[in-house]
Amino acid sequence: MVARLAPLVAVLVLGGFVVAAGQSVKDGRSLVQASVLFRHGDRSPTETFPNDVHQEDAWPQGFGFLSDIGIQQHHNLGEFFRKRYGKEGFGVLSEEFRRDELYVRSTDTDRTLMSAEANLDRLYPDQPIPIHTVRTGLDPLLRAFFLNCPRWTELMEEDFNSDDFKQKEKDSKEFMAFVVKKAGWGEPHGIMDAWRTQDPLLCEDAHNMTWPAWVTPDVYKRLTELTAYGSEINFRGDEKGRLMAGLLVNQIVSNMTTAQQEIQKNEKPYRLLVYSAHDIDISALMSALNVYNNLSPPYAACVIVELYRDTRGQFSVQILYRNDSSHEPYVLTVPGCDEFCPFDDFVELNDEVILSPDKWRRACELPPITWLSGFLYGVFAASIVLLAVLYLMSYLRQPASSGDKKSQ
Ligand SMILES: *[C@@H]1O[C@H](CO)[C@@H](O)[C@H](O)[C@H]1NC(C)=O
Ligand SMILES: *[C@@H]1O[C@H](CO)[C@@H](O)[C@H](O)[C@H]1NC(C)=O
Ligand SMILES: *[C@@H]1O[C@H](CO)[C@@H](O)[C@H](O)[C@H]1NC(C)=O
Repeated sequence: MVARLAPLVAVLVLGGFVVAAGQSVKDGRSLVQASVLFRHGDRSPTETFPNDVHQEDAWPQGFGFLSDIGIQQHHNLGEFFRKRYGKEGFGVLSEEFRRDELYVRSTDTDRTLMSAEANLDRLYPDQPIPIHTVRTGLDPLLRAFFLNCPRWTELMEEDFNSDDFKQKEKDSKEFMAFVVKKAGWGEPHGIMDAWRTQDPLLCEDAHNMTWPAWVTPDVYKRLTELTAYGSEINFRGDEKGRLMAGLLVNQIVSNMTTAQQEIQKNEKPYRLLVYSAHDIDISALMSALNVYNNLSPPYAACVIVELYRDTRGQFSVQILYRNDSSHEPYVLTVPGCDEFCPFDDFVELNDEVILSPDKWRRACELPPITWLSGFLYGVFAASIVLLAVLYLMSYLRQPASSGDKKSQ
């Protein structure tokens, strides 16, 4: 008996990876749930400078659209998900799509919706999968950047007034004036606008289009440095990432909490929660969790937050960053915790970062929704009274008679 079990034990020990009752266990931990946030794949530029010879018609589908390269990148990431979460890996996803296992949410742009589709086409080939979305101006979860957050504006102002920013602005003034003139922008550009010239150049380079002669390697390098500095400013300090991704962290933690309760009740939790979004969302999430490398997230870069349960029934969180398809995902360790951070510690360490919608409004220094709705109700009630008074007045001033016009 023992002899017959020996090869199995060897496999267990050597492989460290076994499939037990459809659920893979790695180093005594089984995967409960994963939340993944990815950036769309390679795209055409979202705009370009007026003097560019490659205007919108140079791109098969115009500006801001996912390219064939971008589709490939998401096919690749989708394959990675299938290997990791399907039966070859942790085995948490069924062979056929199940709506109570997989949930997908995307921002409302063609390139993120299509990236999600390309991705899911490899996770579940030939199966249509629902993708949920919310219009940009109404999406605090993935598009907080497009909503009013006074505290964010205030923090940005502080950084614009910092000594190093002023110095950088001064040092780059001449250069940016040169860029503006050559590119034909027709309005001054500061450091925070450098990306508007850099990004179309980056896209054109990726698609083998020629640059104008004034874009020498040095000019491009300088633009790239300024763009990187600008995006570093966007997430400088602890607070900005929290304002822009705190709601998402809250949702991830809330879904992990539900999953634990379900496991304890022997119910099946959601297995994979997918968020398809943009580079700034990736930066914001990593910055909020204090694991940001300050590098601009490449196309199809993906932050993976996984919840595990060990043999003693303890839950822990591991964060991975897949920013390079030719490299294993990097482990991101939350400062003050281990690679597998006990769930309760994870929540405690991120206490300030986990923002419910109410807390988010407070952190942004917006009036709480209750005041706001109170105020709006007040305005509404006052308008009704005013209308009633006006109507009454006009009625009283009307000459008598004119008959019954009700039934026509
Ligand atoms: C650009 O050129 C390189 C080298 O010739 C080639 O490998 C690559 O596929 C081209 N890219 C596109 C988008 O055509
Ligand atoms: C995840 O959590 C959010 C916030 O509590 C909730 O609205 C959402 O329905 C949950 N998603 C899933 C798939 O359970
Ligand atoms: C990916 O992230 C790791 C960890 O932060 C970093 O060391 C590496 O340079 C990044 N690679 C790319 C291509 O951004």
